[in-house]
Amino acid sequence: MLSHHRRKCLTLNEKAEIIRSGGVKASNSRSAGQQSRIAQAGKILFALYLAPAVYLLWGALTNSLGVNPAETLINDSGLWSLRLLWLTLGITPLRKITGWHWLIRLRRVPALFCFFYGCLHFLFYLVFEQAFDFAGVIADISQKPYITVGLAAFLILTPLAVTSTDAMKRRLGGRNWRNLHRLTYVAAIASAFHYLLLVKRDIGPPAIYIVLLALLFLLRLVKLPVRPPSKELI
Ligand code: HEM
Repeated sequence: MLSHHRRKCLTLNEKAEIIRSGGVKASNSRSAGQQSRIAQAGKILFALYLAPAVYLLWGALTNSLGVNPAETLINDSGLWSLRLLWLTLGITPLRKITGWHWLIRLRRVPALFCFFYGCLHFLFYLVFEQAFDFAGVIADISQKPYITVGLAAFLILTPLAVTSTDAMKRRLGGRNWRNLHRLTYVAAIASAFHYLLLVKRDIGPPAIYIVLLALLFLLRLVKLPVRPPSKELI
């Protein structure tokens, strides 16, 4: 009874938050069942995002990563970081188009996994290409543009990962946090550029990522109307 009364008497701040979140809060309070289904979906997705790392670990342990395991480790971790970055960027437009506002609650995990695979990628590079020779890394940064740009992408993603928690969001304030996290797009541009610069012959795969990124930009520019929460998918 009390909680029902509380729900009816939203403060101005709560109302503003609901408008900003496109109704996410309202739908949250509406369905505890949906909350638990979102949590379940989150766990399944967590396992899916982790699967490529487990696959690479298994391949390394059983020596089944092909003729050049170091190259496979570097390339696959880089590709997964890229895919998860694009997935993260795709969630907001998908949420706006479909009205599935709960999707926003599943955005942090792919973002963190993008950073996780980025860390693995950088680590594999340090181990297999440089054998932890930091003079070699500095030389690479100054001589190979794709390394410079890749490192820039990684350096941009680092503060974004560090500030991804709710506590950091509160500390920075919503507006500052959102402004900082707009850098995700800059990291994506740098990542796509890194990929484009390093391919020798077939520019098809990086070109696909660039086209997708351009599409995501476009969807951002056209300011999609935030649809009211639609029929629940989960
Ligand atoms: C988080 C940011 C980064 C992303 C998203 C990323 C993504 C990628 C992708 C997609 C590939 C190509 C995979 C393939 O050809 O199948 C790649 C390759 C590579 N990346 Fe990155 N990368 C990032 C950061 C870095 C950093 C910081 C370094 C090193 C300083 C680096 C070094 C390399 C190297 C050496 C290769 C292999 C190049 C080759 O095949 O000759 N990357 N990366």
